[in-house]
Amino acid sequence: MFNRRKFLEMSSLGLSAISFSGFTPKNKGTKPIVISTWDAGLRANKAAWEILRNNGRALDAVERGVMVTEDEINCCVGLGANPDREGHVTLDACIMDEHANCGSVAFLERIKHPIQVARKVMENTPHVFLVGEGAQQFALSQGFVLEKDELSKDAERNYKEWLKKSEYKPIINVENKNNQTAWAPTRFDDGTWNHDTIGMIAMDAAGNLSGSCTTSGMGFKMRGRIGDSPIIGAGLFVDNEVGAAVATGQGEDIIRIGGSHAVVELMRQGFPPEEACKKVIERLLKVKGEKAKDIQAAIIAINKKGEYGAYCLQTGFNYSVCTADDKNILLNGKNLI
Ligand code: GLY
Repeated sequence: MFNRRKFLEMSSLGLSAISFSGFTPKNKGTKPIVISTWDAGLRANKAAWEILRNNGRALDAVERGVMVTEDEINCCVGLGANPDREGHVTLDACIMDEHANCGSVAFLERIKHPIQVARKVMENTPHVFLVGEGAQQFALSQGFVLEKDELSKDAERNYKEWLKKSEYKPIINVENKNNQTAWAPTRFDDGTWNHDTIGMIAMDAAGNLSGSCTTSGMGFKMRGRIGDSPIIGAGLFVDNEVGAAVATGQGEDIIRIGGSHAVVELMRQGFPPEEACKKVIERLLKVKGEKAKDIQAAIIAINKKGEYGAYCLQTGFNYSVCTADDKNILLNGKNLI
């Protein structure tokens, strides 16, 4: 679906935009390239592209790109997002570069840009993963500022709505079945939204790959719950000899199948990105069986030739692709069920 609002939004970026079912992109392989999950990725890609088109490093591009989404209030990423069931927003993020360096944070509270903290973990510690209070302390030691502990207006409204039943229902992104096309947050019929993530992978002009992933995780999750997004190999994986993949959707199930790593390994065996993503989503379907209808999961990938592809479990997933010919396009992911 393509609407006037989205067209205007993308035109204002000075970029071309195409979005309708069945559109098959030309996928000759190109660099630089940046792709990201969901339609919020169009705006994130634009920031990443500014770095890539100036011969910048993919790592800088994927960090800068997802910071745009972390900044968007009323989005399901960053501090404006839905809280856990105790009313606190907790954030997860990870980043990985062309040298297999990686950094992650999870269960991080009151810090605006978890992706930047993840990069600092990668660059300024001997570790890969910091969580909770320790991650926050580390962020403060690196000069990050503690933001107020308060919910955005929309998140507060959503939380109050959720509290009426306080039903623990880990459903992710199936709201998209309603074919809502407004940019994230996609919403349930009652106006609340559940969850989203932005995952971004890029190849720079030098042919190097990097990736990033950031999320507030599942709305109204159990306190302490962490999904796939900050887990290297599940939410994100980069192998500079082969390709990169990043996931979105039901984190528990993406972890179960080591989603992003599995896609990269299939690309190593020679499968093109879309085929590799499809095989991994098929694996998820096999693992979940009947229960697959209750969840959404999607993976996007780029290989070393700059070819890209994606696959999702259910309809409703889209992803944003920005390539060297200055096109920033929105594509519908192909779905299994
Ligand atoms: N995929 C994001 C999450 O499950 O938290």
